[in-house]
Amino acid sequence: MNVGVLVSGRGSNLQALLDRLQGGDCQVVAVGSNKAEAPALRRAREADVPVRVFPHADYADRASHDLAMADWLQARGAEIIVLAGYMALLDSVFIGRFPDRIVNVHPSLLPAFPGVRAIEQAVEYGVKVFGVTVHLVDEGVDTGAILAQRAIELGTMSDPAEVHQHLQRIEHELLPEVVLRMARGEVRRDPDNPRRLLVG
Ligand code: GRF
Repeated sequence: MNVGVLVSGRGSNLQALLDRLQGGDCQVVAVGSNKAEAPALRRAREADVPVRVFPHADYADRASHDLAMADWLQARGAEIIVLAGYMALLDSVFIGRFPDRIVNVHPSLLPAFPGVRAIEQAVEYGVKVFGVTVHLVDEGVDTGAILAQRAIELGTMSDPAEVHQHLQRIEHELLPEVVLRMARGEVRRDPDNPRRLLVG
């Protein structure tokens, strides 16, 4: 299965995917971004992966923007889409093109702390256990069915930047692992509870 990745920022998760997937059966075939200045794009170019920028300002609305991205990703052969720090909501027209095939990585143990500033909010709240969620994308904000989670004890950590560093190490392992499992057909829905995904 071919993977398309959407990015808006630094791209350390994109790098983890490239490091783990390129050269195997399941490869990153396209990287799209809504931000021309995203450092992630350089990582894609260095790995010889086709890149395209879709600035929101070039489109009348999010539906036409997301449709153009979906068309391009499908033309490149992408079957699984990974949101690796893609900082915008996806329109239902995009989600409908890749049913149960869009994966996001979020820096919290969902359903706690969805949306932006998850780490800052968790630190302010004073949580003791925190972590990373890899989940399917639906039309809500970080509400899709959960594929994998990994937790850490926060201990004395109170600096969001430090917590993020710890979480990113987990993300870089967990995200490529889940994508590979999905590509191998190892993700099923529990017939008794379609919200629950059985992985492996
Ligand atoms: C990650 O920490 C992820 O949890 C969140 O956005 C961040 C992207 O980081 N959704 P990077 O661009 O992959 O370094």
